[in-house]
Amino acid sequence: MKLHLNGRELTVDEALAEKRLIEYLREELDLTGAKNACDIGACGACTILIDDEPLKICLKRVKDVAGHRLLTIEGLAEPDGTLHPLQQAFVDAGAIQCGFCTPGMVLTAHAFLRKNPTPTREQIRTAIGHNLCRCTGYQQIIDAIAAAAVAYRDRETANGLVSPPS
Ligand code: FES
Ligand code: FES
Repeated sequence: MKLHLNGRELTVDEALAEKRLIEYLREELDLTGAKNACDIGACGACTILIDDEPLKICLKRVKDVAGHRLLTIEGLAEPDGTLHPLQQAFVDAGAIQCGFCTPGMVLTAHAFLRKNPTPTREQIRTAIGHNLCRCTGYQQIIDAIAAAAVAYRDRETANGLVSPPS
């Protein structure tokens, strides 16, 4: 079974097909960014991107994502560790407290900003509506996403990652 994970193709032992995806990432691959918090698909802490769309993976099995493209928070920064502008915006805005929601929140926002790099605050609020944060009160998170949108307009459009407005 093949997985496309953070830009690399991975061959997965068939014996792991039924393993829960969150446990496979965290235990087999040591990718601990995605958190297993509520375990019932309610909080968004386990969100990663599957084919560029946010998905809560705590209820998924490895076999469910075979052949799909997966992006975890570990794949967002540059290979040298330089934070992605969206990650840096979270740091700069003080949008991280306990950090439990942060990987899922950042990936949800990343998928959103790639589609809409000129969002209103209300659109941002709606976009992160399925990712719960118990610490920040959301304002700093919305500030961070709004600030990072500039980078998506400037940088990712240049890289062809965001369709230019028609
Ligand atoms: S841990 Fe998956 S939605 Fe909460
Ligand atoms: S920073 Fe603690 S849950 Fe969001």
